[in-house]
Amino acid sequence: MNLVVIGTGYVGLVTGVGFASLGNSVSFVDLDENKVSKLKDKQVPFYEPGLEEHFQDNETFSRMSFTSSYDEIDWEDTDVAFICVQTPNNLETNSVDTRFLESAITEINNLNNPKLVVTVKSTIPPYEIEKVCNKVGMDKNEITFNPEFLREGTAIEDFFQPDRIVIGGNDPEKISILRELYKGFDAELIETDPISSQLIKYLANTYLPLRLSFVNEAARLIDHSNGNQVDVLKGIGLDSRIGSHYFRPSPAWGGSCFPKDLIEVNNFYKEGEVMLPIISNIIESNDIQTKWTVNKLTSILSNENINSVLLIGAAFKEDTDDLRNSPTLDIYKMLIQKDVNAFIYDEMVELAEYNSVDNLDDISDKTLVVLMYPIKKTLMEKIETILTETNSILYTPW
Ligand SMILES: NC(=O)c1ccc[n+]([C@@H]2O[C@H](COP(=O)([O-])OP(=O)(O)OC[C@H]3O[C@@H](n4cnc5c(N)ncnc54)[C@H](O)[C@@H]3O)[C@@H](O)[C@H]2O)c1
Repeated sequence: MNLVVIGTGYVGLVTGVGFASLGNSVSFVDLDENKVSKLKDKQVPFYEPGLEEHFQDNETFSRMSFTSSYDEIDWEDTDVAFICVQTPNNLETNSVDTRFLESAITEINNLNNPKLVVTVKSTIPPYEIEKVCNKVGMDKNEITFNPEFLREGTAIEDFFQPDRIVIGGNDPEKISILRELYKGFDAELIETDPISSQLIKYLANTYLPLRLSFVNEAARLIDHSNGNQVDVLKGIGLDSRIGSHYFRPSPAWGGSCFPKDLIEVNNFYKEGEVMLPIISNIIESNDIQTKWTVNKLTSILSNENINSVLLIGAAFKEDTDDLRNSPTLDIYKMLIQKDVNAFIYDEMVELAEYNSVDNLDDISDKTLVVLMYPIKKTLMEKIETILTETNSILYTPW
């Protein structure tokens, strides 16, 4: 098929490269000219394992084109346009910022091509799309939804082997084209209405941080009770109804999706309409975890009579350079405010605005070394050497 991907971020680029490598023609449009010029030069603008290999494959690359101008696209011949623009949180209104989506939908509406399957991959409630459609004069029923579940760090694997494919829409013909596009995938396809398709996305992104917050609260209680964290969590996770996957304590959770999607989930209803005490408190639980981690670190520093902390890992998780809502940066700032000599080490990320170390060998004083998430064996071996040489201390939340 002939596809257009609007927005070449984590979702757009992975989706487009994935479909191109399966034989489709893909035109990418992104307003960020810098990104487009890198892509034209065969460079991937961010780190995602495996993406560069697929992107630079000559056959795949020959099926792709890149532009920052909607006018350069052959819309007449396009079957599906995937909207993959960012949907951040508007800090003033505490609701989703639809500016990027509105600008994409305005461009599409001007095409006047009723056959085009306009598919929103961005995470956005249908009531927000409806507002945008009303504003730009487009029929909301023309829009289909195909929420994205990829995880940064394993996004390529998630594209080719998704746990499920979700399609939401009201137009059977458009849905059947998406079905056709996804027919080679070995995953259950759920076809549903627009609101249900986005509820699947939003409630999945509610359950995941809920689970992470539960395990963090459990870890705080175990710490308070002087229990053995490894034994207790293993004992809980071995219950087959609970499971041990995705059940590891962390300094706090973060990332480009969970925080903003959780804020938006609480916008699905007005106060008093429905009582959701667990869902409405997940963010607070995580804020408490961030502060708890900072207090834990400062109490170790004071017990050990040292003042240096090295945070290993700048992003919100392993195998990504995405710094959006990274707990490391929050914890770093809170430590600096407490006059701690905090610095960050990350092999993949440029950290110009922060105290950072490029080379672990530069550490000479006794330091509290904190793993923000599990790291590769080779780096761990290096850290173990530093710990011995400098008599430093290791802290991991798990
Ligand atoms: N990143 C993830 O792990 C992930 C996973 C699942 C779902 N999502 C959702 O997918 C959406 C995209 O997320 P992302 O992380 O890929 O975003 P991103 O910020 O990495 O990329 C968005 C891109 O869209 C471009 N853009 C903005 N407005 C545009 C327009 N009008 N026309 C063309 N290009 C435009 C931007 O320049 C940017 O390159 C969000 O709604 C997000 O919640 C993200």
